Amino acid sequence: MILYKSTADIAKMREAGRIVARTMREVAACIAPGVTTKELDAMAGEKIRAAGGVPSFKDYRGYPADTCISVNEMVVHGIPNDRPLGEGDIVTLDFGVILDGWHADGAWTYPVGKIAPNAQRLMNITREALMQGIAKAKAGNRVGDIASTVQRYCESNGYGVVTELVGHGIGRKLHEEPSIPNVGRPGKGEPIRPGMTFCVEPMINEGTADVRYLDDKWTVVTADGKLSAHFEHTVAVTKEGPVILTQE
Ligand code: MF3
Ligand code: CO
Repeated sequence: MILYKSTADIAKMREAGRIVARTMREVAACIAPGVTTKELDAMAGEKIRAAGGVPSFKDYRGYPADTCISVNEMVVHGIPNDRPLGEGDIVTLDFGVILDGWHADGAWTYPVGKIAPNAQRLMNITREALMQGIAKAKAGNRVGDIASTVQRYCESNGYGVVTELVGHGIGRKLHEEPSIPNVGRPGKGEPIRPGMTFCVEPMINEGTADVRYLDDKWTVVTADGKLSAHFEHTVAVTKEGPVILTQE
């Protein structure tokens, strides 16, 4: 069942989203060669709690950290660890915040020091795919319009679009209906209506779309070992169009 949100509900999610965005910016400023993903995780957790929020991933189905941090060939759900980041890596920070019972969730891929042109291009295209997808999140469209837009844009740029993992409705829970896939057909799927709140989150591979899980049962990596990028915003659909909630 899709749970539609009132203007007041959306305002509360926006406050949670503001904490996501501010934390993202502050933690991202500390990304550098030599820093560990555990240090970034600790920083994010502290900032979220200091703002009055709760990191929503911690203990979600037994997830062991406050954030997911995925490096290079990791697609999503990398568990923060003690391995230092290296010059030329790309790193995705992904976390959610609960504030007064309402969730927001976001992810962003960042460069570590100076990165190669192919890595920068993958990040640029994935971020642009997110924004083009969000632009389709308006009343009268369907979920397939978002999905097909992301798919076409990324595939026409030669990339693999991950299908195993999808975006999702969000609200009082981290994951609600509907699913927001990154591949689909225009004009198909759930109709988009005002009051819907969901996460759009393209996970895009430099090589093939195939993924596998590491032995930790969480970390998703590209099957071919090539790079992957992931950008995510929490979006509310209003009569005036899509509103990004995970921004300051
Ligand atoms: N990043 C995922 C999402 O956007 C949620 C991760 S759940 C966790 O839906 F348990 F891995 F943290
Ligand atoms: Co999400």
